[in-house]
Amino acid sequence: MREGDRSFFKEPIIVMRERRLRVAIDGPAGAGKSSVARAVARKLGYTYLDTGAMYRAVALIAVQRGIPLDDPAALGEMARSLHITACEEDGVFRVWVDGVELTHRLRDPGTDKAVKFLAMHRPVREVLVEIQRSLAREGSVVMEGRDITSVVLPDAEVKVFLTADVRERARRRWQELQLKGVKISWEEVLEELIQRDRKDLERDWGKLVRVPDAVLVDTTGKTQDEAVAEILRLCEEKKIALRSH
Ligand code: DC
Repeated sequence: MREGDRSFFKEPIIVMRERRLRVAIDGPAGAGKSSVARAVARKLGYTYLDTGAMYRAVALIAVQRGIPLDDPAALGEMARSLHITACEEDGVFRVWVDGVELTHRLRDPGTDKAVKFLAMHRPVREVLVEIQRSLAREGSVVMEGRDITSVVLPDAEVKVFLTADVRERARRRWQELQLKGVKISWEEVLEELIQRDRKDLERDWGKLVRVPDAVLVDTTGKTQDEAVAEILRLCEEKKIALRSH
């Protein structure tokens, strides 16, 4: 090709741009979603999003403002009026509401109790789903929760249902609490998890379901590293499949 030939300047440049995946992970409480999702995000260089933390932040504000947890309209209106931002910083998933950081209060016993009632209400869920979708718009995210594969990102490239036997989940949570010096029996932790599962399953909208195209990752008897490796393998397979399209 000679210089001066117009096509010389039009040589096609092939750029192999890596597809930005959205990785959606759902599962019951205590299955290890947060630590697994965070590790997957870190390995991929993606953003980690903990949607449970956002529900917790709204529950905390509702309790602070004395809004009844059985009033969907009032809770929805309150949620819509809040400016909620969230991101991971220094290895911690942080949430701000109206500019005030609430991260350190999201697991207070009062918030823990309130959130399962607040999360039942569709008007609240709609507000949070909207925010979560906007956070995932650019892709390159690993988002975990209960309704991510079914409602928030039903067209996510990678969908995972991460679970473990309820007795194993109770054992793990009990061990965590022991390390924190919380005095509670294993049976109490088990009962709390069973109740939490029931609440997650009985919502009309946004209940915990395994959608047909979500890959089941059962962490019973597995290490966290094994679960992370399984999800990373799914992501690699998806990237290869997308490249050949
Ligand atoms: O994952 P977690 O335990 O931090 O979640 C806190 C609460 O929020 C729990 O009651 C389930 C609910 N939740 C939800 O309903 N939908 C989500 N996407 C995430 C959490």
